[in-house]
Amino acid sequence: MEPVLSLQNVHKKIGKTPVVQDVSFDVYPGEIFGFLGPNGAGKTTTIRMIVGLTNITSGDITVSGHSIATDYKQAIEHVGTIVENPELYQYLTAEKNLIHFGRMSKNVTKESIQKRLELVRLEHVKDQKVKKFSLGMKQRLGIAQAMLHDPKVLILDEPTNGLDPSGVKEMRDYLRQVAKEENVAILISSHLLSEIELICDRYAIIQEGRMVQVERVADASESMKTVLSYAIEVNDTAKAKELLAEHFPDRDVELRGNNLQLQATKEQAGDIITHLTANGVVVYQAVLEKQSLEERFFEVTNGGLA
Ligand SMILES: Nc1ncnc2c1ncn2[C@@H]1O[C@H](COP(=O)(O)OP(=O)(O)OP(=O)(O)O)[C@@H](O)[C@H]1O
Ligand SMILES: [Mg+2]
Repeated sequence: MEPVLSLQNVHKKIGKTPVVQDVSFDVYPGEIFGFLGPNGAGKTTTIRMIVGLTNITSGDITVSGHSIATDYKQAIEHVGTIVENPELYQYLTAEKNLIHFGRMSKNVTKESIQKRLELVRLEHVKDQKVKKFSLGMKQRLGIAQAMLHDPKVLILDEPTNGLDPSGVKEMRDYLRQVAKEENVAILISSHLLSEIELICDRYAIIQEGRMVQVERVADASESMKTVLSYAIEVNDTAKAKELLAEHFPDRDVELRGNNLQLQATKEQAGDIITHLTANGVVVYQAVLEKQSLEERFFEVTNGGLA
């Protein structure tokens, strides 16, 4: 598959200061790609280059094969974005806002506006004035607006800023739907690891203008196969250890207080817990000592999160 957004050795200098250095990554149709980095890492600057708000010092950015630097008109046609805060008319209704902004691009019909409102779950409040909307609702309307001209790439700079956890969850749900149903590639920046982990398929880490790593967020089927460390708290460690030695002789089990310490996949851990309880051992808790994205981040940046 061809990437729909491609950054190739992108550099940006502001004055004499290098702000973005040698950033390269590809984003594919239907994918949600995270751009993760601490404050001042260069996320917004990179995004401003992608949408043509600032020049690229060297390297290239292409959208559907068109260079933002040399073929701007063609390239930008396929890009939807919210720059800073969505620009909405407070005294117009949600629907009227979309009708207004829809006049600026070709082929926007009442039906396509309807479809966007449904997709971001604002259909039921389309006749309400935007000034009454919550931040999350405005954010959703902004995304509907950015999608009006059927872009192939949607670029969102810190879209979850200011949203509460349920707002973040909602955003994840409808962004997933947008990516899947419209086969749009979505780039979102964030300084929050937990959000990237929740929303994205893959992510790149940027730190002090340089890219550190591109990784895939493990999906559910992968995580079933991953060997993890468990601490299983039981009422009778001696008996539990005996049972495990008998039935799972290939597991190394260590005792730590009332805990059994062992390595297993999720599936094996399930079998182990079932076997223990079936044989009269009480399992109080099984704690997964999983390496989180946060730990991974510290590992690849050598603890360099500002
Ligand atoms: N117009 C400018 N003039 C000078 N320096 C700038 C300018 N814009 C950005 N910078 C610098 O470039 C670096 C990257 O800034 P940028 O806004 O891209 O970071 P960011 O990752 O978006 O950070 P944040 O998480 O705070 O939004 C920072 O050190 C910033 O001070
Ligand atoms: Mg920023």
